[in-house]
Amino acid sequence: MTNIILLGPPGAGKGTQARKLVEERGMVQLSTGDMLREAKTSGTEMGRRVAEVMDRGQLVTDEIVIGLIEEKLNTVQASGFIFDGFPRTLAQADALGELLAKNGQTLDAVIEMRVDDAALVARITGRYTCGNCGEVYHDETKPTKVAGVCDVCGSHDMKRRADDNEDSLKTRLMEYYKKTSPLIGYYYHARKLFTVDGLAEIDAVAAAVAAILDGKAE
Ligand code: AP5
Repeated sequence: MTNIILLGPPGAGKGTQARKLVEERGMVQLSTGDMLREAKTSGTEMGRRVAEVMDRGQLVTDEIVIGLIEEKLNTVQASGFIFDGFPRTLAQADALGELLAKNGQTLDAVIEMRVDDAALVARITGRYTCGNCGEVYHDETKPTKVAGVCDVCGSHDMKRRADDNEDSLKTRLMEYYKKTSPLIGYYYHARKLFTVDGLAEIDAVAAAVAAILDGKAE
């Protein structure tokens, strides 16, 4: 059983790498961003409040996201979890440690995807996603082979996220540096931290992540 966290700012490539690990290793991706986007469309009062916060680029409360992860850990069986976009605060990191321990599990590695802010604007504003299977694309670095048609499932339902604009990205980056980047020190101390160059090409990043999971990282 291998449980890992992919840690990095918006656009670092967490979702892209998580999907590769799901495909290649059969791990289960737990993305709090995806869970919250699902909640947004639920038509509930909670969904409406979550939508407002997310579209502004701010963090949703610890209570809500910890509850979402707890529910998944209690109900989903997996040979390994990829935590994508969680934890994002020290309180969430403490809660994850407790939840894993309660289920007799451990955290094996935290992979920090290091990128610089300049690359993120282009990544975020060029991103689109298949609304059917969730495959992630980019106008320049990873376009679909046939315009508007998903390479994986053939769907024509391509979506852009409401928070993928420069204004919201500024807030998301500030939230990352204020509240999430302290986790780098937290996991370094716990001897769980590995760092990969998130600016490398997608396959090169995947190879670096694989080397960590296979215990072959230098
Ligand atoms: P979330 O959905 O988690 O978004 P995020 O962290 O901002 O990260 P992104 O999904 O934007 O980026 P990514 O790193 O996955 O990059 P991707 O692989 O898509 O969260 C959204 C919101 O939900 C938050 O702002 C907050 O409101 C709320 N939220 C979520 N979790 C929360 C929590 N735990 N606590 C509180 N609130 C929470 O790649 C981006 C683009 O770049 C793609 O187009 C891709 O094709 C391209 N790309 C990827 N890798 C490369 C590469 N190596 N080279 C070139 N292009 C690349």
